[in-house]
Amino acid sequence: MSTSSAAAGLDALPGAVTTVPVALGSRSYDIHIGEGLIGRTGDLIKPLLRRPRTAIVTDENVARHHLEPLRDSLAGAGIASDTIVLAPGEATKSFADLARLCDWLLGTGIERGDCIVALGGGVIGDLAGFAAAVVLRGIGFVQIPTTLLAQVDSSVGGKTGINSSLGKNLIGAFHQPLCVIADTAALATLAPRELAAGYAEVAKYGLIGDAAFFAWLEDNAARLFAGDREALTYAINVSCQAKARVVAADETEAGARALLNLGHTFGHALEAAAGFGEKLLHGEAVAVGMAMAFRFSERTDVCRAGAAAEVSGHLASVGLPAVPRDLAFDLPGPEQMLALMRKDKKARDGRLTLILARDIGEAFIAPDVADSHVLDFLREELRR
Ligand code: GLY
Repeated sequence: MSTSSAAAGLDALPGAVTTVPVALGSRSYDIHIGEGLIGRTGDLIKPLLRRPRTAIVTDENVARHHLEPLRDSLAGAGIASDTIVLAPGEATKSFADLARLCDWLLGTGIERGDCIVALGGGVIGDLAGFAAAVVLRGIGFVQIPTTLLAQVDSSVGGKTGINSSLGKNLIGAFHQPLCVIADTAALATLAPRELAAGYAEVAKYGLIGDAAFFAWLEDNAARLFAGDREALTYAINVSCQAKARVVAADETEAGARALLNLGHTFGHALEAAAGFGEKLLHGEAVAVGMAMAFRFSERTDVCRAGAAAEVSGHLASVGLPAVPRDLAFDLPGPEQMLALMRKDKKARDGRLTLILARDIGEAFIAPDVADSHVLDFLREELRR
């Protein structure tokens, strides 16, 4: 991590700006983290553009707060822009919206070598990134994540895609952005539920490999949820550094990147059961999923006794669900849940791979987990 003055315009910014590099050879890029960065996007991305024009992809909620400052900033740097405003929500990560977006991009006269801007949360970043991966067989894109979840996870690392009716994120491509601009001021407009959902992914970095960070979160979560900018910025920095390290070591998830899926196999199955909507946000599903992964780890005697209770206790203390019975929709039965878990991209020959833990900060990849163990566990977990 370094405090950057290399990117155009950063020196003039109020407040500190941190730049976390993602080292991927010719596809390397920077994550800029700081307050008010949306208003400096023009200067930040100008060096990345082949010609001074771009297309902005956003949603109705985000547009209300952030579209005008973004457009002003682009115009101020002499960059022309077209904009498409999509419906907010997970349902937008669909084939229908992908088709509409691709046709719209082509209609703007976009060319190979151009670069689009994804302004929004994980849904917009994943969808716009996937469109950028396939339109004209690949154009550039810049991520401007406006949710905590997108700032610490989905905007970094090049996973792009849409949902299938058979499961979450099952159609997609690895396509790295040219740069990520995380404006911490954007978090001020987030609903508390969205902030908590993003926090689940922050906590994930502690649970996977950084017990000291998890301890810091236990001590500082209240500050973070009260909007303390210093605490938020620190947590985003640590999270992005962790993600950048993992992605640089294993860009296409041939190995260790799978650790970032802690809680996701359980979580994605619950999201599918909830219908991918407002009933269960992705981060909420990850929170329950991580707590379940720790309970399963303890149950199978691989994890320190007491770790699961500490994890659940912390997640619950910030208002996140930690057990399936906290969820306000009809839970699937154990067999149905197992079938949903099998749709996971980590499954091999129909066998489940789970991310388990020996302790807080000590996650590991467990391939070939026996169905019978998972079913017994689900029978207990899904009892209401
Ligand atoms: N969200 C998990 C990953 O990027 O690998």
